[in-house]
Formats: sequence, C-alpha cells, structure tokens
Amino acid sequence: MANNVRPETMERISTPELARAFIAEQLDALRAQIGDKKVLLALSGGVDSSVVAALLIKAVGKQLTCVHVNHGLLRKGEPEQVIRVFRDEMDANLVYVDAVDRFLDKLAGVAEPEQKRKIIGAEFIRVFEEEARKLDGIEFLAQGTIYPDILESGPVKAHHNVGGLPEDLQFELVEPLKFLYKDEVRVVGHELGLPDNMVYRQPFPGPGLGVRCVGAITRDRLEAVRESDAILREEFAKNGLEGKVWQYFTIVPDFKSTGIKDGLRTYDWPVVIRAVNTRDAVTATVEDVPFALLQHITGRITSEVKGVNRVLFDLTPKPSGTIEWE
Ligand code: XMP
Repeated sequence: MANNVRPETMERISTPELARAFIAEQLDALRAQIGDKKVLLALSGGVDSSVVAALLIKAVGKQLTCVHVNHGLLRKGEPEQVIRVFRDEMDANLVYVDAVDRFLDKLAGVAEPEQKRKIIGAEFIRVFEEEARKLDGIEFLAQGTIYPDILESGPVKAHHNVGGLPEDLQFELVEPLKFLYKDEVRVVGHELGLPDNMVYRQPFPGPGLGVRCVGAITRDRLEAVRESDAILREEFAKNGLEGKVWQYFTIVPDFKSTGIKDGLRTYDWPVVIRAVNTRDAVTATVEDVPFALLQHITGRITSEVKGVNRVLFDLTPKPSGTIEWE
C-alpha cells in the first residue's frame, strides 16, 4: 500500500533553492525506483504531466517514452509546443498520436455533455492502450498525480491517470509530484527550465475544447472555438491579464443569428467570452475586463474567425452559472 500522506516535515516549495533540493532528491528516488527499466507517460502538455516528463527525462533519459495524444480538442499551438519542447529541445522519446479523426468521428452527433466526456475519456484509454502495446518491456507508468488529487478524490482524478487499462497492462506507478500542491509544481517546473506559458498556464479541462463547442461537436464550429480562444489568449497576454485572471476562454453555442458583413447578410454563430476568478473553482466571480479591450477583441473575432458574426460577454458568477458551459 503506497503512502499517500504528505510528510509533516516537508517544507512548502516556494523558492528556487527548495525546488532544486526537491529535484535532486526526486532524481535519486526515480533512479532508485526505475533502475534500468522502461517507463511510460501520457503527456498532455498540461503543467503536471509536463513537470513529470521533465523530471523523468533528467532522471532516466531515453528509458522514458512519452505518449502525446492529440484528440483534436487541444488549444491552438499546443501539440506543436509539446513536440518542440520535449522532442526537439529536451531530446525525449516522444510518440505523437494524431487521433483527431478518431475522436471527432466518435463524438459526431453526440450532444449530451456527460456522454461527450465519457466518449473522450474512454477513447483516450483505448488510444493509450494501443500505443502501450506497441512498446516492449515497459514496467512503469508515470502519472502527474498531485496532492489535491489524493486529498479530494481518494483515487486520483480521471485526467491524471490512465486507470482503466486492462489487467495485463497494470504497470507499477511512478508519481513524483504526489505530495505537491499546484503552486509548488509550478516552482519546480520553472526550475526545470520549462517555458513560462506551460508552467503558469490557466486550468484546462481534460475534455478540452470539447465542452466549449456546446452540444454536438462539428469540425467547423470547433475551429471557431479554437481560433477565438487563441485571439482571446493573445489579447489577454498583450494587455497584462494573463496570470491575473484565473480562467478565460471562449464558447461557441450551436445556434446562429443574423448579421451583416461587407454589405451582405450573414447567418452565423456567436462567440461567448468567459473570464472568471476563483480560489477553488467552487464559486467564481466575473473579471471586470475593460470595455475598450472587449470591443477590440470583438472586432478581431468577428473579422478573423470564420462563421462568427457576434461576440457576447458572460456576466454570470458561479453560482448561478458553472465556469464551463457544459
Ligand atoms: P465548472 O464548470 O464545474 O468547472 O464550474 C470548475 C473547474 O473545473 C474544470 N472542469 C473540468 N476539468 N475535466 C477536467 O479536468 C472536466 O470534465 C471538467 N469540467 C470542468 C473547469 O475548467 C473549471 O476550472
């Protein structure tokens, strides 16, 4: 039975010195646990799995194989960044799986939010299982479990594990971050040399843009979510809101309204902007985004994003609205 209680003597990792001490200690522990064996990691590009990857690359190099599954619901530029940082810069063994068509075909016509989540979760396990079977001699499975996952849910959260793998693929777990809080993971990630926009990024749900393309996902509307999200993130970064606002993103509902572009009538989707602050995601308040910035973003989205003719700002705190729209 693994010990799942953070040692009382463990100091909060808040400085580069403490992060370096943690890293040195973990490198020894990882080498002792793994020896000359092989280890597998599902690398989403989120903070936790990225920090686990960076630690393992330092500890055991090519004994680690990272699998990055592109399910088509990632933000603009994310798969490219994972490949650039881990394969090109850190020289990791990285298997990139383009599963976009698989996921979107399975999701076609499915409108119910929990059903969409189930399909995405189940398909992810299936794709990961197929990749694991192609590799020989894997004995360990690394996971980005962090301490809140253990505290909140007993067994780790779905997006932090690939539990559900069949019996014959039950590997020994490697969980170097399991006693760390999120802020500590970020300090460690920064010290490991990961880019700031990876280490300090806002929370992103496991089902990704899939829950922001409301109702049944179509490829064209999903692109409208991805492109509008990229514009929002770019403008928030330029205007000092990145790192200040807890979570911000766009949603594209599955209805249309009339508009005019270049003197012609249009019948297109609206984009909804959501920007919220919270401590724990249980309640949330809406960020007071400057009106001039909202107008500027509206202008960019309506002129640059295909199929969109309106932009709305969601003024709803949680409760009564949830942070996501599904
Ligand atoms: P809600 O919408 O419930 O979201 O107010 C609270 C926080 O949880 C995130 N979220 C998810 N994260 N898988 C995840 O990993 C999910 O299915 C999921 N749904 C919501 C949401 O982005 C927010 O930060």
